[in-house]
Amino acid sequence: MAAGANWRGKPNRGRLLVPVAVLLLLLELACPANALENGLALTPPMGWLHWERFLCQTDCSQDPYRCISEKLFMQMADLMVSEGWRDVGYQYLCIDDCWMAPTRDEQGQLQPDPKRFPSGIAKLADYVHSKGLKLGIYADVGNKTCAGFPGSYGYYELDAKTFASWGVDLLKFDGCYCNTLNLLEEGYKTMSRALNKTGRSIVYSCEWPLYEKFLQKPNYTEIKQYCNYWRNFADIYDAWSSIRNTLDWTVLHQDNITSIAGPGGWNDPDMLVIGNFGLSWDQQVTQMAFWAMMAAPLLMSNDLRHINPASKALLQNKEVIAINQDPLGKQGYRITKDHNGLELWERPLSGGAYAIAIMNSQEIGGPQTYMVSLTFLGNGLACNPACSVQQILPTSRNLGLHNWISFLKVLVNPTGTVLLKTVVIEEKRSLGIL
Ligand SMILES: *[C@@H]1O[C@H](CO)[C@@H](O)[C@H](O)[C@H]1NC(C)=O
Ligand SMILES: *[C@@H]1O[C@H](CO)[C@@H](O)[C@H](O)[C@H]1NC(C)=O
Ligand SMILES: *[C@@H]1O[C@H](CO)[C@@H](O)[C@H](O)[C@H]1NC(C)=O
Ligand SMILES: *[C@@H]1O[C@H](CO)[C@@H](O)[C@H](O)[C@H]1NC(C)=O
Repeated sequence: MAAGANWRGKPNRGRLLVPVAVLLLLLELACPANALENGLALTPPMGWLHWERFLCQTDCSQDPYRCISEKLFMQMADLMVSEGWRDVGYQYLCIDDCWMAPTRDEQGQLQPDPKRFPSGIAKLADYVHSKGLKLGIYADVGNKTCAGFPGSYGYYELDAKTFASWGVDLLKFDGCYCNTLNLLEEGYKTMSRALNKTGRSIVYSCEWPLYEKFLQKPNYTEIKQYCNYWRNFADIYDAWSSIRNTLDWTVLHQDNITSIAGPGGWNDPDMLVIGNFGLSWDQQVTQMAFWAMMAAPLLMSNDLRHINPASKALLQNKEVIAINQDPLGKQGYRITKDHNGLELWERPLSGGAYAIAIMNSQEIGGPQTYMVSLTFLGNGLACNPACSVQQILPTSRNLGLHNWISFLKVLVNPTGTVLLKTVVIEEKRSLGIL
């Protein structure tokens, strides 16, 4: 995209005019929307975010083990390294609301709560960086954060500078206490520019469309020019209904939001709640599979000190993570839903591969059989003339070679998902299967 800007910036000689016009057209087609040009989030960011699991416990004398404090983040940083999270890609350790002191300091700067973050955020950032991780922080575009701590309205430049001086690597910018649409839009844009001006590489996470959509249809083309990822829908809860509602919203709006996602800018369906209390095993599989299908940021909100081995293995599943992190960066979408509540989704991957997800959304009865026709996947290209098929979830197994008229029979548990990957094979003769 930087190349596009250079081409546009230079006057063209006559002879070059046609090739340049063709190149620009190709660039427009390849990049339907220009992403924020900070070189970050070329694949969906991965990490840990405290909100869903730890909320706003600020009383460390009453609950020292779970309160929002530097201790909590240092423990999570240690575990992200020792338990292999960092090495599979979970890199951003992110603070959400409730880290601040109730007021700004005399210079107007945001400050962490002195009891809970006695060493300060810069020290915490040093610690996190020493572990090969990155630190995320939280602020709000309006007059207060959602939990009532100081908002950034009127202080965008100062707060961006403060975060950069502390060595922060990601900002989640919430949208509470913002009176008007105009202030919301201007606030998100101004903070984006302010972050850029600091010269520090800081991933910018927005909630702009979530707050805007109550008032008007968000302009995603514009949002992508300012944000690295953006929340569209309500906060995630540790419950199947919440996962279900998030997926339903995404399907309802997929014609408007899917094509906008790509390297540098992603739709954010909110945190992974795998490893907590509310989801059955099959529902955890479904969340992991669909966050991969949707090219969603993978931000876990769980307690890495207590997580069962199966949930951990699911979150660290390299084949699923590879789908999520596919460099092509195309978001998946639903193709059909049948009268038994079975949903078929596909996601184009690099190299002509496809991820295929089949979810049984029926919340009654037992496992249902689904016959996947390979003929129509990927507009008929996913398995033409042949393909190899790998099942990735709920368990990994090789489903062998198939041709374009094959059907795959899968068995899907209620609220569960089967995740597959097809890789097209051109050399049909050498396979001897056609
Ligand atoms: C700021 O934006 C410009 C393009 O507008 C980009 O080239 C530069 O890398 C950005 N800097 C940072 C620190 O994000
Ligand atoms: C913050 O509060 C002031 C004073 O009430 C108000 O004028 C301003 O519009 C508010 N800002 C936002 C972003 O809502
Ligand atoms: C959305 O934003 C883009 C980029 O700023 C602009 O070109 C386009 O006209 C906007 N679309 C609408 C419907 O306002
Ligand atoms: C998709 O965007 C178009 C154009 O802005 C709008 O008219 C339509 O209502 C949107 N669809 C949904 C489901 O939001």
